[in-house]
Amino acid sequence: MSHRNIILIGPMGSGKSTIGNIIARRLHREFQDSDHFIEKRTGVDIARIFDVEGEQGFRDRESNALNELLGANDRVIATGGGSILREENRQLLKQKGYIIFLDTSVNQQMHRLRRDKKRPLLQTENPRERLETLLAERRPIYLDLADLAVKTDKRVARRLAADIIDQLPESLI
Ligand code: S3P
Repeated sequence: MSHRNIILIGPMGSGKSTIGNIIARRLHREFQDSDHFIEKRTGVDIARIFDVEGEQGFRDRESNALNELLGANDRVIATGGGSILREENRQLLKQKGYIIFLDTSVNQQMHRLRRDKKRPLLQTENPRERLETLLAERRPIYLDLADLAVKTDKRVARRLAADIIDQLPESLI
């Protein structure tokens, strides 16, 4: 099967947007970020969507965004951390792209997200515990979907992006 899009999956704070951006620039592809796409479309931020429509409302918008973004080819797409929760999304991701999982530790997520106020799922008493729970639930799904899984710890983004590009199938480069 030919995979025309390159899709990044992984938890919040794993660097999907940063790494995706670098890969897109290096491969002269268009970069799209699912959360940014939704924010541009609606004119409000993700936290506001969660407030007004609840998580289910956001997930509907996320599924629609993925459908649109994956309607084209040859893009690099950063997904939201929870985009793998719905079976329909998983099918779509698998069909439409080569999937890269950024495998990150909770420590690294905590470090990256320490000043974050934008992730509604982290606005809780104990964000570390929340990240641990989410990762325990989702990591098996990320692993199962991934064509390529890369550990992100202790590596600078540029280096990690270069390593990923080195491991891509020739048909994508
Ligand atoms: C979420 C991750 C976020 C965003 C929303 C929900 C999740 O995206 O879609 O806050 O369920 O893990 P990032 O992975 O880009 O932070």
